[in-house]
Amino acid sequence: MLIDLDRPAEAQSRAMPALPVVAIVGATGAVGVELLGCLEGRNFPVKSLRLLASARSAGKQMAFRGQQITIEELTEASFDGVDIALFSAGSGLSKKFAPIAVRAGAVVVDNSSAFRMEANVPLVVPEVNAGAMAAHQGVIANPNCVAAIATVALAPLNAAHRIKRLSMATYQAASGAGAAAMEELRLATAAALAGETYDHKVLPHPYAFNFFSHNAEMDPETGYNGEETKVVAETRRIMGLPDLPVGITCIRVPILRAHGMAISVEFDEVVSPEEARALLESAPGIRVVDDRARNHFPMPSEASGQEDVLVGRIRTDIGDPSGRTLALFVVGDQLLKGAAQNAVQIAEALLPR
Ligand code: A2P
Repeated sequence: MLIDLDRPAEAQSRAMPALPVVAIVGATGAVGVELLGCLEGRNFPVKSLRLLASARSAGKQMAFRGQQITIEELTEASFDGVDIALFSAGSGLSKKFAPIAVRAGAVVVDNSSAFRMEANVPLVVPEVNAGAMAAHQGVIANPNCVAAIATVALAPLNAAHRIKRLSMATYQAASGAGAAAMEELRLATAAALAGETYDHKVLPHPYAFNFFSHNAEMDPETGYNGEETKVVAETRRIMGLPDLPVGITCIRVPILRAHGMAISVEFDEVVSPEEARALLESAPGIRVVDDRARNHFPMPSEASGQEDVLVGRIRTDIGDPSGRTLALFVVGDQLLKGAAQNAVQIAEALLPR
């Protein structure tokens, strides 16, 4: 499908300024806060920063590079003069306001799932398919957090040996469901420790000391939920493997902000764990954490707040007697590589060289 972006001709030919005006839509959300942090931490050049959220937040202030910026209510006029708009306020708002931002001349980097499968919207993980960005028509989609983190680990392996099949199980943090779900995890855990009851409001099941099938909508026909469907479709698209068979089970675990995933990767030939480890060690955006002697492998506590994706437990999958399958355990910060950092990396690639 193609979305009608109606990008004005002058915006298409307009060069991105070296010092762009940047807007964050959903600045107060779990990802929005990290977008500010990534712009600051990665020294992104900014002429001015516009923070947009709902009327509830308008008038409040957030700090950026030592200055207080007043949050404005998102309206149709919010994008006048904006060069880059980073959206993270959910699909509905992206569908309504991203075309408005594009018509105003901005390039949109959208963290929602609204446009990820549109043919005229590149879906980008810069370490994997930065080249896809060139074809953008005003909107570039930032992938689902699991797809972003998994493809960073899978791409260097696939570049050396063609991947034929994936099977994965995820361990997903609260942050993927937004700031309110993170707060629910804190409150539910405190209540459980105090021996009090807690009525869950954000997620569909008790969250303290519990895990459950991902809360995305379940398709009763297939038995797969929306998160699983997204990860499969987006992993294929980012990796340029449209027919890749992918099996998946997504689980929500009581962790604040880093997703884990056990991945079984079948190649078209035998690949040794040693070779895979060497490929991963020299790949961008990856830190190999694979210490069998100390039983030290990727953990959310060590991935949280880190830009790199942690990869370990690299071993031959003994479930495939042919020897062509490797098993990996991958953990990445859902709010950083799974969201804000990837979006800011895309924005960096938009800047003039
Ligand atoms: P606000 O804090 O004013 O509600 P999260 O993904 O963590 O739940 O965050 C959602 C983000 O989307 C927040 O920044 C939130 O702002 C913003 N948002 C929600 N509804 C609207 C709206 N109607 N207009 C603009 N921003 C919105």
